[in-house]
Amino acid sequence: MTILSVENMNVRFETPDGLVQAVSDLSFKVKAGETLGIVGESGSGKSQSVFALMGLTADNGQVTGAANLHGENLLSMSKRQLNRVLAEKIGMIFQDPMTSLNPFMKIGKQLCEVLIFHKGMSKSQARAESIRMLDAVRIPSPKIRMNQYPHELSGGMRQRVMIAMALLCRPELLIADEPTTALDVTVQAQILVLLRELQAEFNTAILLITHDMGVVAEMCDRVLVMYGGRKMEEADTDTLFESPGHPYTQGLLKAIPSITEDMQRLPTIPGNPPSALINSKGCPFHERCHHSQPVCRTSVPSVLPVAGSQYIACHVMGKDNVTPLVRTA
Ligand SMILES: Nc1ncnc2c1ncn2[C@@H]1O[C@H](COP(=O)(O)OP(=O)(O)OP(=O)(O)O)[C@@H](O)[C@H]1O
Ligand SMILES: [Mg+2]
Repeated sequence: MTILSVENMNVRFETPDGLVQAVSDLSFKVKAGETLGIVGESGSGKSQSVFALMGLTADNGQVTGAANLHGENLLSMSKRQLNRVLAEKIGMIFQDPMTSLNPFMKIGKQLCEVLIFHKGMSKSQARAESIRMLDAVRIPSPKIRMNQYPHELSGGMRQRVMIAMALLCRPELLIADEPTTALDVTVQAQILVLLRELQAEFNTAILLITHDMGVVAEMCDRVLVMYGGRKMEEADTDTLFESPGHPYTQGLLKAIPSITEDMQRLPTIPGNPPSALINSKGCPFHERCHHSQPVCRTSVPSVLPVAGSQYIACHVMGKDNVTPLVRTA
């Protein structure tokens, strides 16, 4: 069952240098209980895509399109309506826990307030449920932690508190923007395991933004590859790793170092990401692409299926691949 359906979403910013198109014509769906990864180089529009869903676009930005959560369009809601939906149906975790936690308020109070306000719980119910949730995110001695301030906890523990906070109202969807990038490798692995366990326990869908192809392989059911604000490829994770369709995805996967090397950041493909200023008519990747043809410079490729649930936006590989795969189907 689809819970979130994003349709033709655009995010544009007015800047002194001109109009910046951070996200172009983006469509995707998230199904109940699945993990959808969004991967792409820095500046490819990953964060702005989810910020737009959460009403966090900066004042100089404009969002168009639709994002339906159970038929209600998040992009056309009033701030008040949206805040309620976000608090009750969508949890968020970010790279820096301090973006969600108030440094001046004890952890217990922060958790309880959410439950009292959004779930109408009494103080004692909220306290019991908060302790239960701290326990669920494997925080030792949760009763003691309730009386501490965020700075009294380690980075990994703060991240767990943020996850507890995000899951308090049992959201159907958890949006996680680089949730483990700032943590060391051991803590990162623990947090990812925790997210998977909580997902199974609460049947939460996860929209996971990451730079790390290792995290994608481990966590995601499906992956959306973004470049220059556009969807370049969408596929289930096994297909993406076994037979990447888009030259950009192929480049990303080819450039992955061996497992023994550092796989923390996305591998580099020669060339620079495109400027987000609106000045290019063609495929955003054409300047860096080995397969580039004249058409790639002049027209934006549509996102089309190549096989089953694999979609790519490519004039060259799309055309080449579609025919044989369709014939054998
Ligand atoms: N307020 C703003 N005004 C103008 N441009 C902006 C604004 N906010 C974001 N952008 C631009 O939007 C584009 C997409 O940014 P976004 O933060 O979504 O990238 P990202 O894929 O999340 O990158 P990273 O991996 O570094 O987090 C970038 O070119 C960025 O400079
Ligand atoms: Mg980002």
